Amino acid sequence: MSEELFPVPGEWAASAKINASAYDERYARSISDPEGFWREESQRIDWIKPWETLKDVSYNEADFRIGWFMGGKLNICANALDRHLETRGDTPAIIWEPDHPDTPGRTLTYRDLHTEVCTFANVLKANGVNKGDRVTIYLPMVPEAAIAMLACARIGAVHSVVFAGFSPDALAGRIEDCQSNIVITADEGLRGGKKVPLKANVDAALEKTPADTVIVYRHTGGSVGFVEGRDVWWHDAAANASPECAAEAMDAEDPLFILYTSGSTGKPKGVMHTTGGYAVWTSMTHEYVFDYRPGQVYWCAADVGWVTGHSYVVYAPLINGATQVMFEGVPNYPDVSRFWNVVDKHKVEIFYAAPTALRALMREGDDWVTKTDRSSLRLLGSVGEPINPEAWDWYHRVVGERRCPIVDTWWQTETGGAMITPLPGATDLKPGSASKPMFGVQPALVDPEKGTLLKGAASGALVITDSWPGQMRTVYGDHDRFFQTYFSQYPGYYFTGDGCRRDEDGYYWITGRIDDVINVSGHRMGTAEVESALVEHPLVSEAAVVGMPHDVKGQGIYAYVTTNAGTEDSEELRKELVQWVRKEIGPIATPDVVQFAPGLPKTRSGKIMRRILRKIAENDTGNLGDTSTLADPGVVDDLLANRPRT
Ligand code: WTA
Repeated sequence: MSEELFPVPGEWAASAKINASAYDERYARSISDPEGFWREESQRIDWIKPWETLKDVSYNEADFRIGWFMGGKLNICANALDRHLETRGDTPAIIWEPDHPDTPGRTLTYRDLHTEVCTFANVLKANGVNKGDRVTIYLPMVPEAAIAMLACARIGAVHSVVFAGFSPDALAGRIEDCQSNIVITADEGLRGGKKVPLKANVDAALEKTPADTVIVYRHTGGSVGFVEGRDVWWHDAAANASPECAAEAMDAEDPLFILYTSGSTGKPKGVMHTTGGYAVWTSMTHEYVFDYRPGQVYWCAADVGWVTGHSYVVYAPLINGATQVMFEGVPNYPDVSRFWNVVDKHKVEIFYAAPTALRALMREGDDWVTKTDRSSLRLLGSVGEPINPEAWDWYHRVVGERRCPIVDTWWQTETGGAMITPLPGATDLKPGSASKPMFGVQPALVDPEKGTLLKGAASGALVITDSWPGQMRTVYGDHDRFFQTYFSQYPGYYFTGDGCRRDEDGYYWITGRIDDVINVSGHRMGTAEVESALVEHPLVSEAAVVGMPHDVKGQGIYAYVTTNAGTEDSEELRKELVQWVRKEIGPIATPDVVQFAPGLPKTRSGKIMRRILRKIAENDTGNLGDTSTLADPGVVDDLLANRPRT
């Protein structure tokens, strides 16, 4: 890996909010004097009632709990909207850029957004939504997604946003898990010119898990089914609602949202975040990581269905009074200049995206980029997966013309906001390294087997030794699973699931997941989820899924499938299984390779040896390691002999 150093550009060192010495000084203070540090930082939020106790945290099983800013009261929606009305009511908050460049866009000022949110909050109330109720949101990248989320936050309802690419089955599972009685959706979504049948998907999901109310936003105008007594048009309901709605005073530890994410076992977990700590954490990280000042045009290209969209499209930018682009489309439609044309059209200064999109665009050649202007760009960000040095170099050299620092932000759904990241005015960059911890974050490496702390330059499992305000608070409905998943492996620490190297300069290099989670195009996928979808097929008796290297996606999905006795393992069946998984989970879970396997490598106790399956998928078959504990070592020869050509 390249260890070339890109020093902080002089103008950034001189003008950024945080330069190198400020970083050192503030980081040290955040650890040695957390009371003082967070007392200051928490003032970025308007509190209805000031907090009394900074934190109440124990990582021990017996008295396990996590709380921050105890006793404080606030409303995060009021922080995102109301408090800006006087100073920047007429400033654009959201500049919406549609899927196709010829479709008219929309600009919502802070005042517009406030009116829409209050109106929709009253719609929710009129439909029986109370404080604490869970509201499922299944919307495309339209301003109404942010409006619906903020309206929930305004009245203290807990939103659960489900990515609009998930299937009806996946949606139903999430509605059921959080017992949500209301779903907010649109007639259809649009991505790259293709329609996504959102309302039809909701109808199908609700056949499995009924809900009382469906609010439908008319987006494409496509015709949809309508269930009298259950379905309501957004525009009809809004026409009858008042545009005034007081913001509920929420306790700092009241739930704000649930967001389902994949883990190494079982079904997706409802990651729950609360109000006060999340507000402070997302606002602080957004301000420092992007050196954000109101007036600058900021664009985070993530979907609201993922945590990056929650923290860095909806909450933090609005809390910080930002003007931002919200994009409905995809990077390669109508052509692969689309991102850079949007940058030029709206004079974007700060651009934040996932490496998978960059790798896909990089393959198309530089002309698509260089024929655009991009002179407005000042800062580039990366998130969601490790950025390989080649993609980093291309992003830096071609997109940013060597002028723009790159902030490679490592974080997770569980962490609420950026944890290990460069700051543009403070951190000399090493391509591929997320670099240094954010204020208040204490990363450490442990020996994966022994659990002992590793000092200095080392590689190991990445843990965080103490809490930070944006930490998730529980797995919805299963607090014990929260403890077992993250705190039981290395007692006293939060275990991230990632492997990591720390170099002699104290820079962190995330090497990827070391559990059974794979990262496909920056989307988290549990191998167990894909396996359970496969075994639901009537002809499949067993399945094992692992990640494989993929040039564009980062990781692809490699599935080993054992079919029922007497089944012909045909090409048709292979195709059918690929479609089956798409239908069960969604297109993001499409297997890249399906290998039929009459047997899977198992130990005598019946445990699948995934290590071997991973090596075969990675085409690293020279050294499969010790296979002597396998019940039937012959299985491996068969797997090697029957690898599909990829
Ligand atoms: C990976 C996305 C390397 C990592 C915000 C983590 C990264 C998982 C980076 C979380 C990065 C995220 N460098 N790896 N900059 N950012 N990851 O929950 O494996 O969708 O554990 O949150 O993505 O994915 P999640």
